[in-house]
Amino acid sequence: MQTVTKKDIPDELVVDIEKLSNLGLGIAKVDGYVIFVENSCPGDKVLIKIGKKTKSYANAKIKEIIEPSKDRVTPFCPLQKVCGACQLQFIEYNAQLRLKKEIVQDTMHSIYGKDIEVKDIIQSPQVKGYRHKIQYPVSETKDSKRILAGYYKQGSHELVNIKYCPIQPEYCDKIIEFIRNAAVECGVSGYREDLHSGELRHVVIRTSEYNKESLVVLVINSSGLNNNVKKLAVRIYNELENITGVCVNYNSAKTNLILGEKTQLLEGEDFVEEKLCDRIFKIGAKTFFQVNPLSADNIFRYVKKYISDNFTKPYILDAYAGITAFGICLADIAEKVVSVEEVKDAVILADKIIKENGIENIELNNTDAGKFFERELKTCSGKFDITILDPPRKGCSKESLDYALKLTKSKIIYVSCNPATLARDLKYLEEKGCSFKFVQPFDMFPHTYHIENVVIIDV
Ligand SMILES: C[S@@+](CC[C@H](N)C(=O)[O-])C[C@H]1O[C@@H](n2cnc3c(N)ncnc32)[C@H](O)[C@@H]1O
Repeated sequence: MQTVTKKDIPDELVVDIEKLSNLGLGIAKVDGYVIFVENSCPGDKVLIKIGKKTKSYANAKIKEIIEPSKDRVTPFCPLQKVCGACQLQFIEYNAQLRLKKEIVQDTMHSIYGKDIEVKDIIQSPQVKGYRHKIQYPVSETKDSKRILAGYYKQGSHELVNIKYCPIQPEYCDKIIEFIRNAAVECGVSGYREDLHSGELRHVVIRTSEYNKESLVVLVINSSGLNNNVKKLAVRIYNELENITGVCVNYNSAKTNLILGEKTQLLEGEDFVEEKLCDRIFKIGAKTFFQVNPLSADNIFRYVKKYISDNFTKPYILDAYAGITAFGICLADIAEKVVSVEEVKDAVILADKIIKENGIENIELNNTDAGKFFERELKTCSGKFDITILDPPRKGCSKESLDYALKLTKSKIIYVSCNPATLARDLKYLEEKGCSFKFVQPFDMFPHTYHIENVVIIDV
């Protein structure tokens, strides 16, 4: 019960950090009033300086650590405090896993409204070098026009020029360093967000754990190609090792979106290959694929084992399918898989993989999931035994959940990257008569607050 109001909170005070919020901030409470403390760890006693205050909560920064939590460690990256990418790196990895499980439990409790069994999180096979999709914003220095590339400081658009990032494969640092120098030599300028000027605004790398090859995408602030960008692409392709291809993506809009609509292949191939569940996939510039391939492999095997232990040749609907990764991994144990995905490039790549593997029992649908469900309800003769729902962070609409329920005979397997929308959707499904036993978290994103979860739901 909150008995203290924002007026009672002094500008500086000593607090004990009790928990982590679902955004990875430490939570302290003063007689029920919540204070979110940046870069703090449960178990810390800290002197904090209060920032923004609202009726129900305040934000704060640490002024001094009075007693550190036993779970604190020295971050392995010297830039951890300035770069916004690894919020939890100062917490020991096993403690991160325990705290992430608690975040899922707390989120379920507050949104779902009940205590739900949350299994121990299945850890990432790699805790460094796991991130295989790199999206660096690019800029340039005002006077010397050197190219800067890295991540933004937390909560800002201030670029941290990152020469070494331990959570991505080392060769990605080499690619970025090469581009920093070669861009200047080729006459390609860095983007100035404040002026909306300059050319190179992002470098995106899709890199493979399986064969260590990379696809490089140069995102430029233009709607057309010039010779300098072409020269840069040729140099990246010819002078660096293990580059499958170089694409250019045109994005001249004043937007925070990284990729624009149009991508053009300049050199080599427009995809990189990755392995999942013993199948080889192709990943393009704009196609979704899990950033941590080895942790993704754990999830796909978990789902596949559940299905093969409990079903014989089921009909499966793979919704929000991306490159139909689930469908392709499950095709050998299914009677038929029907997949639906709205991004055309992903469906084109799925089609290639299916043909190359001689798979004949997958039907691909390139459309909006809601529209597809509606159409399918009108036309299909029988229901799916299993529906896999793997939506983006915003989760599923009530309408889509209703359709999925009507289309599914036995189980919905819900794969989620956002515990809050998962809890909301589980609550809705329970109101409609569904049940489930537990939530299984996976650590897809070590050192960040992000958590992937799988729930097997009886319909
Ligand atoms: C979290 S990803 C999952 C992809 C895939 N299951 C995997 O594991 O690789 C979500 C996918 O849903 C797609 N998507 C988002 N909204 C959609 C919609 N309304 N209809 C169909 N697909 C959608 C996105 O393009 C993306 O490929």
